[in-house]
Amino acid sequence: MSALPTKPEKLAIHGGTPVREKLLPYGRQSLDEADVQAVVEVLKSDWLTTGPKIGEFEERFATWVGARHAVSFSSGTAALHGAAFAAGLGPGDEAITTPMTFCATANCVLYQGATPVFADVSPDTLNLDPGEVARKLSARTSSSTKAIIAVDYAGHPAALDELGELAKTHGALLIEDACHALGAEYLGKRVGGIADMTVFSFHPVKHLTTGEGGMVATNDARLAETLRRFRNHGISSEARQRQESGQWFYEMVLLGFNYRLTDIACALGLSQLDKLAANLARRREIAARYTEAFRDLPAILIPTVRDGVDPAWHLYAVRLKLEMLAVGRGEVFRALRAENIGVNVHYIPVHQHPYYRERLRSKESYPVAEDAYERLISLPMFHAMTAQDVEDVIRALGKVVTRFDRKYQGKYEEKGERSHLLESRQSK
Ligand SMILES: Cc1ncc(COP(=O)(O)O)c(C=O)c1O
Repeated sequence: MSALPTKPEKLAIHGGTPVREKLLPYGRQSLDEADVQAVVEVLKSDWLTTGPKIGEFEERFATWVGARHAVSFSSGTAALHGAAFAAGLGPGDEAITTPMTFCATANCVLYQGATPVFADVSPDTLNLDPGEVARKLSARTSSSTKAIIAVDYAGHPAALDELGELAKTHGALLIEDACHALGAEYLGKRVGGIADMTVFSFHPVKHLTTGEGGMVATNDARLAETLRRFRNHGISSEARQRQESGQWFYEMVLLGFNYRLTDIACALGLSQLDKLAANLARRREIAARYTEAFRDLPAILIPTVRDGVDPAWHLYAVRLKLEMLAVGRGEVFRALRAENIGVNVHYIPVHQHPYYRERLRSKESYPVAEDAYERLISLPMFHAMTAQDVEDVIRALGKVVTRFDRKYQGKYEEKGERSHLLESRQSK
């Protein structure tokens, strides 16, 4: 059954009644009593950090994603930094990555004193385009490119086979930023054991939360060892190992950080892991309902799912066919907010942030990412959304894009709306 309106209605932004009374956020965590109890137990135990919960969480997580090793970090950003370090990135080196991501993906290259080189994305998935990566690689001396850092945008795995092949041919490592993609499948395998290193985030809007937290999964024991040392000041043993063996001696063997995840957070992670499969299934259900409903909205481009892929749907990001609308993305965004739908935009392409604009000498443009940015709107997507929440989003998007359809331009304009429309055509 379609919840889409058949004729234009007065929008909340123009004084009409909003679709919802209260704002529906675009993402939020769900915690239950078992999560609370798991944390309380650790608070009463001997180890608040670097205790038994870390190993337990890492082992169960590794098994869940199908990797031999998993190394926890205090955030996804810290995990990316660890991966950049373990890949050997340093001054004079480069890593090829996507502009269509959260800035942390590229920042980890800068933390190591290396240079991020952007390559444009594919128009269907908005993931790193292997053809563009190949073009960047052939324009450079292979020895300076130490890593390709792909992002599984919105939870749809990147072209891992092609990118892995390119990395191998050029003596680089493939780092997969799967902060959106815990539980996503690529050619029948969960992401985590496919790339050289796969990075996850446990921020509250993600599939599993530890408050803040992150993980690097890898099949390579040497990379895992480096990652473990890096997150613990570069020290070769951990406090609990020393206590258990009655030793005080330790050595610092590389320059690391304190990027450890606490036992409190790991206990929460373990408890959240129990619900991960159900949460993923719910996100897939919501995505399927959105996709079914928006097929009937010609001004909306729905996300593509490539063959052989089962996305994890961290985001459900639609693109507006601006050619069909009388207003820009900014006005559609504001109208949806007025309907109390908590929309968001992912992402301002990284090279367009002032910090990058000022520092990267390249004036190169990335037309696919830049065009997508003008059109993108992320709709609410979290596993605790009710069926009514989902229908509210569908109805609100339908209401807004129907009202702003070019074909109704001038026909239904309310008092005071005209100046609003003129203004919004000029803003993004
Ligand atoms: C693609 C991507 N990479 C990295 C990060 C950083 O993760 P964290 O917030 O856990 O540091 C995020 C966080 O939202 C992200 O979306």
